[in-house]
Amino acid sequence: MHAQQDRIIIFDTTLRDGEQCPGATLNVEEKVMIARQLSRLGVDIIEAGFAFASPGDFNAVQQIAETVGTEDGPVICSLARAIKDDIKAAAEALKPATKARIHTFISTSDIHLEYQLKKSRSEVLAIAEEMVAYAKSFMDDVEFSPMDAVRTDPEYLYQVLERAIAAGAKTINIPDTVGYTTPSEFGALIRGIKENVPNIDQAIISVHGHNDLGLAVANFLEAVKNGARQLECTINGIGERAGNAALEELVMALHVRRQHYNPYLGRPVESEAPLTNIDTHQIYKTSRLVSNLTGMLVQPNKAIVGANAFAHESGIHQDGVLKNKLTYEIMDAQSIGLTDNQIVLGKHSGRNAFRTRLKELGFELSETDLNKAFLRFKDLADKKKEISDWDLEAIVNDEIQQT
Ligand code: KIV
Ligand code: ZN
Repeated sequence: MHAQQDRIIIFDTTLRDGEQCPGATLNVEEKVMIARQLSRLGVDIIEAGFAFASPGDFNAVQQIAETVGTEDGPVICSLARAIKDDIKAAAEALKPATKARIHTFISTSDIHLEYQLKKSRSEVLAIAEEMVAYAKSFMDDVEFSPMDAVRTDPEYLYQVLERAIAAGAKTINIPDTVGYTTPSEFGALIRGIKENVPNIDQAIISVHGHNDLGLAVANFLEAVKNGARQLECTINGIGERAGNAALEELVMALHVRRQHYNPYLGRPVESEAPLTNIDTHQIYKTSRLVSNLTGMLVQPNKAIVGANAFAHESGIHQDGVLKNKLTYEIMDAQSIGLTDNQIVLGKHSGRNAFRTRLKELGFELSETDLNKAFLRFKDLADKKKEISDWDLEAIVNDEIQQT
């Protein structure tokens, strides 16, 4: 794992939960491309898919395990229901990875037990224990999620977690499956787990959350304050319904406010010590790549990676920023990989400037594709004074990816 023990572990699920949003399907090649970039970004774990879900998903997990799951790369993970066939498929697809993890889950809230699983609490408790042990027979690194944990009776949740840890789960993940919780409530839940699950010290506490009320990132930050050490998130916050906690928002919040989220177990935070292994300079590029390949647009006012995130429109703000950036900026655009002196591309721009900008946007094209795209760019530049990033992305999407 990239992760150093006392840092916050970033578990990226763009290729699993992220891909579970309408219209965001990716082919295997695209998934591998994103996985490579996630590895450059420095995520500790890539949840590459749900191997049992379809042959395409199995193939994607396997290919990512083979190409990105190298010794110095991230852990590659596959999701699996707490069902033997799912777990077996996950283990099989993950075989080529040097470091692999099975993430198995079962619902624990009464509403899911009654209407979805049609099982009793004691039946689910036994299944969780048995399936964690089964996953453990394939590999050491097993994560367990009690789905809909936030709406589960806490006393029952503690029991399930204790049994999953006793059966070998090294990470126990607490999902806010329906995006219902609030920061103080979620923080208290994590604290309750720390205080009431007797063997909790044998596992890492992870959190997973959806953004139905727009609170996922705030909930996670409170969870960190109360002992969560792994954050499950997606690039641009894509995912089921309103999406998941956004990786770029979490990482930059931890970066900008590092003194407030000290994971160093009581030791003081050195002023420049990073709290995660993420190379923040890769954030913008990763965001553009995911947006382009999934077709999920990023809203202009989206925190960190939106087109307006570092743009100052009002005269007072512009004046302040010109005098001293800190007047209206809490972080540097360069820290997420945006260049400060952005070259404005137009009809006089050459191939090199064109290639450089495409690289910053996450496109690494072959010479042939670059030539094709460059001709198309020159054509457009004759008609338009300035070529925006959106124009460039449209050119690459139309000209290269469709052919
Ligand atoms: O939202 C959820 O509960 C999930 C689980 C599978 C972890 O995605
Ligand atoms: Zn989810």
